[in-house]
Parts: sequence; structure tokens; C-alpha cells
Amino acid sequence: MIKISPSVLTSDFLNLKDDIKKLEDAGTDMLHLDVMDGIFVPNISFGVPVIKSIREHSNVPLDVHLMIDHPHRYIKEFAKFSDYLGFHYEAGSDVETTLLKIRENGCKACLTIKPCTAPEEIYDYLPLCDMVLVMSVEPGFGGQKFMPSALDKLTALKAESERQGLNIELEVDGGINADTAPLAVKAGATVLVAGNYIFSADDISERIREIKSL
Ligand code: DX5
Ligand code: ZN
Repeated sequence: MIKISPSVLTSDFLNLKDDIKKLEDAGTDMLHLDVMDGIFVPNISFGVPVIKSIREHSNVPLDVHLMIDHPHRYIKEFAKFSDYLGFHYEAGSDVETTLLKIRENGCKACLTIKPCTAPEEIYDYLPLCDMVLVMSVEPGFGGQKFMPSALDKLTALKAESERQGLNIELEVDGGINADTAPLAVKAGATVLVAGNYIFSADDISERIREIKSL
């Protein structure tokens, strides 16, 4: 069963409470929260206080995507309010130490790769991952076009995790819509992040149901 993780980045933050309620009622599996620091990516979003408030008002698992430089510095803080906690392979922290730190702090560990990173680079870390996130756009902004090169990466990561006897969620993020979602699922994605496609809909509940039934 495919899981959906709506990215609230493009939602109206003043209506976030109502939107989250709608997503919950429609059976969303997680909420995807994009944390940007203006250094690792050329954009700034939100941080711990916002995620803490969401945690206090929702029981949906929180899937936190850190797009921050040297993320190991902030793992403990974010882990208090996250379920899945992910960081970028390219962000300058020791990958093994950071993955272990996430698990030690009670979260599921997610390693994320940018479009420029080959999947083979992270094969050795797969036993320490609960989820791998393949970016299908350059991280930093919602509303970009899906890069088909993500599909081969998902296929390769699926094959490699099976070869290693691991059961890892494969998440894809960026440009997911009714056309690209089936391609990503076919390639091995088990968790779909979608921002604009969900929040541009007249009825976001209906859109969640639609994407889950693809
Ligand atoms: C981009 C973010 C994504 C983004 C997805 O850096 O990681 O989660 O918000 O938005 P869409 O679905 O609009 O591409
Ligand atoms: Zn994201």
C-alpha cells in the first residue's frame, strides 16, 4: 500500500490547522515538513517551534526533511517532535554517526540524496536507514518539474536493499502528480511526497484519496 506524505511547504500557514485536519480525515499517512536553512538550500522555511506546534495538534506521523548544513548539530532538538527524521547525504555531517544519532533519539532514520548524487554512494549506509528519500527536484522549492532520473535511482535502491535483505521505505519528493506518481511507484517508491499537487486542489481531501488510489 502506497503511503502519502503531503508537504505543507506550499500551504497557507495561517490555515495550517484546518488543512492538517482535512489531510488527517482523508487518511494521510504522514505529514512532510521541509526545514530549510538558507545555506544548504537557497530558501528559508521553518524550524523546531512550528514542528512542535504541529506535533501538539496532530497524531499523524511527522516526516521531517532537514535541508540544513551540518545537520548532526540539530538532531536531538528535531527528534523530540519527529517520527521520521531525514537529512542530506551531501550536507557535511558524518553520515553513519548522524543516522545512528537519529535512531538513538527514538526516530526512524532517513537518508536523502539530491539529484546529483548516485545511489551507489549510499549503499553502505542502507542497513542504518529506515527510509531513503530520493529527490526528484533540486531541493529548496516546491512546484518544480519532476526529474525522470529519479526513477532509475529508485529502481537501483530497491534492488540493492532487497539484495541486502533490508526492508526500507523508499520515498520520492518533488513534482509528484497524477502523471508522475504511477511512474515512481512502478520504479519502487513506497512513500510519495506531494506539495503543490495537493494544495492546489479545490478539495485536498479528495486529492489525497485520488493519489492513494493510483
Ligand atoms: C523541495 C521540498 C519538497 C517540495 C515538494 O525542496 O523538499 O518537499 O515541497 O513540493 P512539490 O510537490 O510541489 O514539488
Ligand atoms: Zn521535502
